[in-house]
Amino acid sequence: MIKISKKILNTLEEAARQASKTAYAPYSNFPVGAALLTENGEIYVGCNVENASYGLTNCAERSAIFTAVADGRGRGDFSALFIYTPGQVCHAPCGACRQVLTEFFTPEVFIYSACDSGEIIAWTMEELLPDSFEIPTGD
Ligand code: THU
Repeated sequence: MIKISKKILNTLEEAARQASKTAYAPYSNFPVGAALLTENGEIYVGCNVENASYGLTNCAERSAIFTAVADGRGRGDFSALFIYTPGQVCHAPCGACRQVLTEFFTPEVFIYSACDSGEIIAWTMEELLPDSFEIPTGD
């Protein structure tokens, strides 16, 4: 189990809430923010970026992962993800994001979700996507 202190969790939550403010979500009006914690204590944020084609929309979670990877982080470098979704119901990452997250997260990494209700829900990667598809890499 990866232990994340209450202080770091608060920092991650605030970063996810702030990131949602930069979302480009004119079609859904559903701005999502994500804050990704690395094992070194760095935080990468992401927001959803929508597109008129709808299908080309990038979720906040994938934006955060892709930003971290572009900055040199990789598989196993992450210790938590915090997302913020607007409204009174805290949401879990979509299926596409779960598949992308599982590429980079070990099964015990926690994904936290906050919303406007004050509640925080947490799942492990394993709980969100058991028996995930992987191509053997030989490592
Ligand atoms: N969205 C995310 O950013 N993350 C999720 O896990 C679920 C959905 C975004 C995509 C779209 O811009 C909006 O929320 C409504 O689906």
